[in-house]
Amino acid sequence: MLIKKSEGICSSEITSKNVYLNRRKFLAGAALSGAAVATAALKFRELAAPSSTVLAGNKINGIGKSPFSTTETVTPYNDVTHYNNYYEFSTEKDEPAQLAKNFRTRPWKVKIDGQVAKKLELDVDEIIKMAPPEERIYRHRCVEGWSIVVPWVGFSLSELIKRVNPTSKAKFVEFTTLYDLTQMPGQRRNVLEWPYVEGLRMDEAMHPLALLCFGMYGEDLPNQDGAPLRVVLPWKYGFKSAKAIVRIRFTDKQPMNTWNISAPQEYGFYANVNPHVDHPRWSQAKERRLGEFFKRPTLMFNGYDQVASLYSGMDLKKNF
Ligand code: MTE
Repeated sequence: MLIKKSEGICSSEITSKNVYLNRRKFLAGAALSGAAVATAALKFRELAAPSSTVLAGNKINGIGKSPFSTTETVTPYNDVTHYNNYYEFSTEKDEPAQLAKNFRTRPWKVKIDGQVAKKLELDVDEIIKMAPPEERIYRHRCVEGWSIVVPWVGFSLSELIKRVNPTSKAKFVEFTTLYDLTQMPGQRRNVLEWPYVEGLRMDEAMHPLALLCFGMYGEDLPNQDGAPLRVVLPWKYGFKSAKAIVRIRFTDKQPMNTWNISAPQEYGFYANVNPHVDHPRWSQAKERRLGEFFKRPTLMFNGYDQVASLYSGMDLKKNF
């Protein structure tokens, strides 16, 4: 991706383990003093067991299979969790794993507003329970030319959209990532405009392939891959799949997305994977799967032909 400015990360920016552990103790203590004993005991269990950093490694129960899964070889977990684009933490792909280690993903609220019958603020755990979790093994291709195959866990974004009652004026949906300078050291640099924002047309968002994601490899989503909640849009370049979402806004106008603001001639709103439309600085015809040596041809819509009808009649060279 185009980078305006890149600097090293100073270690004082990383929340120390002690600060994080003390905070947990404080939260647990505060809950105990204020409530009746039975409730307090329950609260204590909630706070003490899954900490405010919900770590990957917790199994997600009752995961169903999805007909949308590819049968291609899944990329090793270690590659998917140590080669990340997550500019809120770093512009270096091997750094988010370490820098996001103590990122607090609970409690976590998601604001739902704009063109909806009633504005809402939902807890991420309420959202996660809206529909049964499914494993979706998707190809995921980055605009930079690498790709991965990941067993994501989540359910169709449409399940959430249906429950929050968008109005007839809702033509687009916008996703906003958390803005928190105390936790996301990359946001102190003006490499991108913060917070990170992405958007979809409503029919794209309602397409069953659009995944609201909270896990991978059968477990909670690792922080560096977008915990606690992200979207995964397998027919689009990876940058459309916003991580750590705190706001979902329905709009009547096409939202401005971060990469389009940063370099409009290079990154469009649609960002459909398209081997026939080159990036101005490189070809998009081939890709390299992480862990493989030889490149393979990139497929139109990343091989997800079921979305083609969403774009019929559109000039995909102009609407890149
Ligand atoms: N979301 C936020 N908030 N910040 C980012 O920097 N990078 C995007 C996307 N979502 C990004 C983001 C890009 S460029 C890619 S390729 C994917 O996340 C990478 O997802 P992964 O690290 O889980 O493979």
